[in-house]
Amino acid sequence: MSETVAFPQDRTCPYHPPTAYAPLRESRPLSRVTLFDGRSVWVVTGHAEARALLGDGRLSADRQNVSFPTPTRRFKGLQNRRTALLGVDDPVHNAQRRMLIPSFTLKRTAALRPRIQETVDRLIDAMVAAGPRAELVSAFALPVPSMVICALLGVPYADHEFFEAQSRRLLRGPEPADVEAAREELNGYLADLIERKRTERGDGLLDELVARRLETGETDVEELVSLAAILLIAGHETTANMISLGTFTLLRHPEQLAELRADPSLMPLAVEELMRFLSIADGMLRVATEDIEIGGERIRADDGIVFSTSVINRDEAVFAEPDVLDWHRPDRHHLGFGFGVHQCLGQNLARAEMEIALGTLFERLPGLRLAEDPDRIPFKPGDTIQGMIELPVAW
Ligand code: HEM
Repeated sequence: MSETVAFPQDRTCPYHPPTAYAPLRESRPLSRVTLFDGRSVWVVTGHAEARALLGDGRLSADRQNVSFPTPTRRFKGLQNRRTALLGVDDPVHNAQRRMLIPSFTLKRTAALRPRIQETVDRLIDAMVAAGPRAELVSAFALPVPSMVICALLGVPYADHEFFEAQSRRLLRGPEPADVEAAREELNGYLADLIERKRTERGDGLLDELVARRLETGETDVEELVSLAAILLIAGHETTANMISLGTFTLLRHPEQLAELRADPSLMPLAVEELMRFLSIADGMLRVATEDIEIGGERIRADDGIVFSTSVINRDEAVFAEPDVLDWHRPDRHHLGFGFGVHQCLGQNLARAEMEIALGTLFERLPGLRLAEDPDRIPFKPGDTIQGMIELPVAW
């Protein structure tokens, strides 16, 4: 048992699980970790057990449950208000998800590809015009998904500095009061936007939800604000981190990058493998509502459970030589987008954005390289979505 491992911890290398999690790899499929407040919770590290548990209706995602695990002080600022989708159980979860699913199908996402390509091209044109150096997070990795989610939702991109700042406060904290204030400010902004959409109809998803669900009484402003907030935040933060960390990782793996450049049709496989390898959402959270026997252990009702995605996605029982980045892996059932009823709603969109952004970046800038010593480039701490804080590049 590894009672003493603290969770979460910072990565030592931005694309590998924290070295401090080594004992967790050895004590698969389940062990114990200690959270910042001293509470001991289960950590799931086995791939099969993670899938079984994430698909088990005896686990709850309700963040307002007093027994829900609190991984950081920051998280306390998020718990006194309901989080749509990610923080609710059925039947509310199912009803919310059903309202949104039609907008995130493969077909709807495929229709967005030309728009994503156009956004990517425009941002690279601007980088080239100002080059031959850039800070890739602010010039490219963040604006791509931010512009795309704004267009999809019908949120004015002109307001991006405001909502990106609130999103940073929400996801990085660290003060719970500040996290709560950021959430209130973002919610106030979205409530005003939704109110305006009652009279000034646009063609975004929020406009559609106002017309089809709000005016019909199927939802209310509070729920719609909460849905809009999660879509806006999840829709840009995660993908931005995959683009920045994906670029860094490719530049640190020249052989794999050369192979990808020689055969761009490998890109969808590369995106899937990067999702497994990078596991940027490293710590999904649940609470047990009943006793559960699994992996030779007994989880008790009210026990907290965290899923270490980075360790799960390196389970050698499923992924041969898991620490190697390999575009040709036969098994692609990584849990980078989660699993079960809360599995990522935006995964088709995220895949399209990553394929187009990374593919076009490396095609248009064949001389792309890091502009600083890789060991000095800052990356995000372990208590949030993993990714690069800055990425200085040259070409
Ligand atoms: C590469 C980028 C992305 C990654 C790595 C990612 C990862 C994840 C993960 C791991 C979950 C499950 C969390 C859990 O079970 O606790 C999730 C859920 C979710 N994601 Fe993503 N995501 C990405 C992009 C997106 C995009 C572009 C959108 C939206 C437009 C989005 C919207 C959501 C939503 C709404 C949920 C909650 C679904 C539910 O509870 O039913 N994500 N995501």
